[in-house]
Amino acid sequence: MPPDADDAASDPAASPSAAAEHRVTVHGITHGMEGVARLPDGRACFVPFALPGETIDLVVTETRARWARGRLVDVVEASPDRVAPPCPYAGPWPAAPPACGGCALQHVRTEAQPHLKRRVLVEQLERIGRQPDPPVTEPVPTGPWHYRSRARFAVDEQGRLGFREPRSHDVRPIDRCPLLTPDAQALRDAAGDAWPGVESVEVHAGSAGGSGLLVRPGADALPPLPEAPSAIAVVDAGPPVALRGDPTAHETVAGLPLQVSAGVFFQAGQEAAEALVATVRRAAGDVAGRHVLDLYAGVGLFAAALADDGAHVTAVEHHRGAVSDARASLAGSSATVVSADVGAWLAEHADEEEADVVVLDPPRRGAGPAVCEALPRLRAGRVVYVSCDPAALARDARTLVEGGATLTEVVPVDCFPHTAAVEAVATFTLP
Ligand SMILES: C[S@@+](CC[C@H](N)C(=O)[O-])C[C@H]1O[C@@H](n2cnc3c(N)ncnc32)[C@H](O)[C@@H]1O
Repeated sequence: MPPDADDAASDPAASPSAAAEHRVTVHGITHGMEGVARLPDGRACFVPFALPGETIDLVVTETRARWARGRLVDVVEASPDRVAPPCPYAGPWPAAPPACGGCALQHVRTEAQPHLKRRVLVEQLERIGRQPDPPVTEPVPTGPWHYRSRARFAVDEQGRLGFREPRSHDVRPIDRCPLLTPDAQALRDAAGDAWPGVESVEVHAGSAGGSGLLVRPGADALPPLPEAPSAIAVVDAGPPVALRGDPTAHETVAGLPLQVSAGVFFQAGQEAAEALVATVRRAAGDVAGRHVLDLYAGVGLFAAALADDGAHVTAVEHHRGAVSDARASLAGSSATVVSADVGAWLAEHADEEEADVVVLDPPRRGAGPAVCEALPRLRAGRVVYVSCDPAALARDARTLVEGGATLTEVVPVDCFPHTAAVEAVATFTLP
């Protein structure tokens, strides 16, 4: 047994209940928000719904040479942050089969959740990013309930909408979700449960009006459409096609209007978008009269705010629908929207295009080494990196720091309370 094996695992008096295999103490948390304990044989064991500091009983459900995954059977000594999940579909489910895979943290006090996410950010930046004692601030909370203005429902064999079970492709039919805004829930209600053969149905109810369903068909013909939702689009291989009405959602963030067409990325909801914009604005500093590059710009969320602050913004985005939404929303502002792949655009323009500040908000996999290595060529004094994956942020932070940047601040923003998603705004300065 390794020296750091926990006491409970090595203490024969601390035997697990009859239904369990091991009694262990949880010492850590993964970036998927699973508790980490050590089995008596020394392997790390990941346990969904277990919290650091708790003593738990578990059964091993998945086993590998160096690690295992366990199911929480009983909480012997609970964390003071443990609460009963309010949603009937949320875990843990010691005696029942798993239900909704959407929420990983409903069993944690709402105020404590952002601190768990902060802890994950610190650990990833230290371990993967090689940043000792990273400058991670206190987290910014949002929500915590009824914050999601959009959600994509999977469809079960009978055509009912639901979410996938944890670590599974099976769909659990779900009629109510406490994370949805009332308008998004009303849209889900109107969508009904008669979508046989369809792959998914996405609802989006804009905070400033406009709403609709986006249907991704399966191999079969679409079933008859429900009567209630006034706007429905379908998306297959190409761009979405409206079947009925106009499913464009409208959002207002920091008082600025944005349009979001069906199938185009937008943040979880209005409050998360407000929190991210406020954090990015603060991180970017005084941008009046300065050139700001907004990479991975989407519909122009950050470009709109920074242009409103007086910056000359160049926004780069490759998704056709997002580019056209950004152009519509930013018309009349000082922002220019470029339709291009960020990597290809930087390869061509990084040496000639000087920027004072670069904002980048890449997809979950991160920006990657080619983009991070190109950023210093823009001669910007500051890079503001909006991240939705701490491991990707840590990898990119390492590349940026190796390229001469200094990581000066990381602000965790809890855009998705109760889920495992960890978002952050990291600021780097460059000489
Ligand atoms: C996380 S979203 C951020 C969007 C926007 N900043 C916002 O907050 O609404 C990432 C965006 O990057 C775009 N994107 C992904 N890969 C890209 C690439 N290689 N080049 C340009 N845009 C890309 C996606 O289409 C998406 O709009």
